[in-house]
Amino acid sequence: MPDPTPASAATMRAAVQHRYGPPSVLESSEVGVPRPDRGEVLVQVRAASVHPGDYFVMTGEPYVVRLAFGLRRPRHGIPGRDLAGVVEAVGTDATAIRPGEKVFGWSTAGALAEYASVPADRLVSVPADLSFVDAAAVPTSGMTALQAVRDIANVRPGQSVLVTGASGGVGSFAVQIAKAFGAEVTGVCSTRNVDMVRSLGADHVVDYTGTDFTRTGKRYDVILDNVESEPLAAVRRALTRYVAAGHTRGKVVITV
Ligand SMILES: NC(=O)c1ccc[n+]([C@@H]2O[C@H](COP(=O)([O-])OP(=O)(O)OC[C@H]3O[C@@H](n4cnc5c(N)ncnc54)[C@H](OP(=O)(O)O)[C@@H]3O)[C@@H](O)[C@H]2O)c1
Repeated sequence: MPDPTPASAATMRAAVQHRYGPPSVLESSEVGVPRPDRGEVLVQVRAASVHPGDYFVMTGEPYVVRLAFGLRRPRHGIPGRDLAGVVEAVGTDATAIRPGEKVFGWSTAGALAEYASVPADRLVSVPADLSFVDAAAVPTSGMTALQAVRDIANVRPGQSVLVTGASGGVGSFAVQIAKAFGAEVTGVCSTRNVDMVRSLGADHVVDYTGTDFTRTGKRYDVILDNVESEPLAAVRRALTRYVAAGHTRGKVVITV
């Protein structure tokens, strides 16, 4: 089996954390370039993104995350998961991807580094018109929104869908996906993001700094709640079907 580690890059710069804590636990360090296993791909990282889950893993809070990521300290010293980049080398079983290909997806062992080793089945090609930066922003937030809109809420053409946190990571994808599924979409955000949410395709935008969507008298077929700022009892006034994407309520689905 050929050595998948490029000789010119035996070490790399990476963000490293040796303990859980605030952002100050992160150090820029020189570490070894990961060696991809048989089914993995070594990606030269051109862009990486962070989402709330990365924050939980960095801080180790809520404590339940430590069950998955290491009880006393982070099992993977390099934080981050979502990335986009260029394939540098492939393991012997990763036959569907070739060196030089532009890819994006999920690393399981750290994305905030010059190189990351990624299971081949967690990568797809970057479309020609997408930048590395935009591609790196898609994986976890886009997939969360897709699961919520398509798989959990089962959004259908003509339904009215309200998305809270419409300017955020999950919400901005949810607005676009619900619109693509033919829904009439209302996005909830703050004043500074009203134009941005409308540009994503929202038919209506509620500025939560001036309007409480639970008190407008309007009801929605689906509410996708990325913020969970309103009590469930209040949200019930405005909904038929409720899906929470956030961590506070877990994957709550309520049909009224
Ligand atoms: N991103 C992911 O990959 C992911 C995956 C699984 C679960 N989650 C969970 O999903 C939730 C949202 O994550 P996110 O990544 O989308 O967060 P985010 O990027 O921080 O977005 C949250 C948005 O909420 C808006 N907001 C704040 N207060 C609001 C209010 N009272 N009413 C309506 N909108 C309000 C903010 O918009 P303004 O700036 O306009 O106020 C902000 O853009 C979190 O609980 C997270 O843990 C996220």
